[in-house]
Parts: sequence; structure tokens; C-alpha cells
Amino acid sequence: MFHVLLLFCLCCLIGVLGGSVSVTEGDSVTLYTDLTEIHEDDSILWKYGGKKYIIAEISAKYRHFFTYEDVPDGRFRGRLKLDSKTGSLTITNITTQHAGLYEVNGAKGPLKTFSVSVYARLPVPVISSNSSQCSSSSSSQQNCSLLCSVVNVGHVTLSWYKGNSLLSSISVSDLSISLSLPLEVEYQDKNTYSCVLNNPISNQTRHADIKQLCHTCAGLLLPNILVISAAASGFLLIVAAVIGIFCICKESRKTVQRQKEDRSDSALRKPKTRQKKSKEEAVYENVPKKR
Ligand SMILES: *[C@@H]1O[C@H](CO)[C@@H](O)[C@H](O)[C@H]1NC(C)=O
Ligand SMILES: *[C@@H]1O[C@H](CO)[C@@H](O)[C@H](O)[C@H]1NC(C)=O
Ligand SMILES: *[C@@H]1O[C@H](CO)[C@@H](O)[C@H](O)[C@H]1NC(C)=O
Ligand SMILES: *[C@@H]1O[C@H](CO)[C@@H](O)[C@H](O)[C@H]1NC(C)=O
Repeated sequence: MFHVLLLFCLCCLIGVLGGSVSVTEGDSVTLYTDLTEIHEDDSILWKYGGKKYIIAEISAKYRHFFTYEDVPDGRFRGRLKLDSKTGSLTITNITTQHAGLYEVNGAKGPLKTFSVSVYARLPVPVISSNSSQCSSSSSSQQNCSLLCSVVNVGHVTLSWYKGNSLLSSISVSDLSISLSLPLEVEYQDKNTYSCVLNNPISNQTRHADIKQLCHTCAGLLLPNILVISAAASGFLLIVAAVIGIFCICKESRKTVQRQKEDRSDSALRKPKTRQKKSKEEAVYENVPKKR
């Protein structure tokens, strides 16, 4: 008889366990009584925590619907909503402070118990590339180093995926920690890579855009090409200038020579003009002088 009673009581305890409820911080959660309607002679009590603080009360008979948001320390202030028809309790904008056990009691005793877990809202991981490695040695130039990071997380796993297959992952159980996970990819890699941060109830994914992330590496190479081409064109300019000057020199030398030739020509011609002049003088000589 005693054993049967014990078994019955154990069944009661298991039976009232409404189950585990997992919520993300900032979201709302509703704890259902599973009643379709509260009977006139019924009363509902919601209790919270190990000390079973009464946080909500319904007395159908007297039409009383109360929430007690100041217990135990005001953490429920402005966050409790009571469904007057079913007696279900909604906690809005939940925080980690609201995690724990919730119990709903009817007039005849406990109805259900809920174990509420609250998980932090996950940030989207950030992917960066190690561009400094690109310019360092030529051996690492076919690879691009990526780093996926998150700050201020706890109870999470950070993973790299290539398509749908897991490449690597790292897990932490601490609260508020910074995590990062490296990945080496080739510049020409056409696969889709993604970095996923997840906790037991949610995940956040960032896809790696290899073209863009590893572009900084190509960007570092580009100026080199520009510098080289600029230097090359500069050299060509100098060569062209030298050739140009040489040509001009040659040209001017030619003109100098030509001028000299002209001069010698005129030198040859001069006697003729002199002769002419002398002839003219001779003509004048024939004109009778007025004197
Ligand atoms: C939710 O709770 C947080 C922390 O208590 C508070 O800073 C924030 O303003 C609340 N948001 C809303 C929409 O009530
Ligand atoms: C990034 O480069 C620096 C120096 O070049 C190196 O110390 C570091 O380990 C690199 N990180 C990754 C993720 O490759
Ligand atoms: C480049 O990355 C691949 C994986 O993508 C790796 O197998 C290889 O060893 C890396 N090479 C160098 C030079 O780091
Ligand atoms: C991320 O969450 C979605 C549902 O929100 C799920 O379908 C997906 O499988 C999850 N991905 C990972 C890698 O956990």
C-alpha cells in the first residue's frame, strides 16, 4: 500500500513537469496551463523559483486577476501578462534573470512545472582576412587566411563549413568570452564557405565572400604592378627623351653646318657683288662731276 502511494506521488511529480522551455533573451514566452477555461470555483497561482514566490494569482469566483511583479526583486516589473480565460502566463522581453522553475497551481494543487532556460541573443560572426600575410612571402600567396570571430558570447560553438560539411569548430561553456577560428582558402577557391555561431536553440551564419575578402591581397599586388609599370614607362620616357635630345642635337648640328655652307657660299658670291659694285662705281665714275 505504501509503495503504491509512493509510486503514485512520483507519477504526480513527473506528470506536473510541463517540460523545459528554451527562450532567446528579449523574446516572449508563454507558459500554458492547458486549461481551456477556468471554472468559476477555481483559482490559479503562479509561483517562481526555489522559494516559490507568488508572481500571479487568479480568483475566478471574485474575478481577481493579479500579477505581483515586485517579488523577489522587481525583475518581473512590466513583464507579466495573465490570460484571464486560460490562466496562462506570458513573460515578455525575457532576460537571463528570469531563468528557473515556474509552477502553476490549481485549487486542488500543482498543475504543471516549467523549467525555463534563457539563452543570449547571438551576434552574427565577423569574417576578416589576414591581408598582411599576402605581401610577406611568395609561398603563402596562393592562400588567403580568414578569421571568423565573435565577442562576448557564452555556451556557444563556432564552426567553419564548406558547403554543408563541417571543417572545424570550437566550443566554450564560459560566459562572456571572445572566440575566433582561422581558415585557409585558396584565392581561386569557388566553394561556398560559411562561419556559423550556434547555441542549443539558435544560430547565426556569415557567408565568406572569398572574392571580396581576399581582394585586399590582390589590392596589395595591384599597386606593385602599377609601380612597376610606372617605373617602366618612366624609363621609356627617359630613353625617348635621350633619343629625342640626340636627334635634336644632330639636327641642330646639321643646320649649323648648313649655315656654315651658306656662309661659304656667300663668301664665294661676295666677290661677284663687289665686282658689280665696282662696275656701278665705274658707271658713276663716268658721270661728270658737278664740281
Ligand atoms: C527589455 O529589457 C531590457 C533589459 O532589462 C531593457 O533594456 C529593454 O529596454 C527592454 N525592451 C523592451 C522593448 O521593453
Ligand atoms: C595573420 O598574420 C600575422 C602576421 O603576418 C600572424 O602572426 C597571424 O598568425 C596571422 N593570422 C592568421 C589567422 O593567419
Ligand atoms: C593552402 O590551403 C590549403 C587548404 O585550402 C592547404 O592544404 C595548403 O597547405 C595551404 N598552403 C599553404 C602554402 O599555406
Ligand atoms: C541554423 O538554424 C536553422 C533554423 O533556424 C536550422 O535549419 C539550421 O540547420 C541551423 N544550422 C546550423 C548549422 O546549426
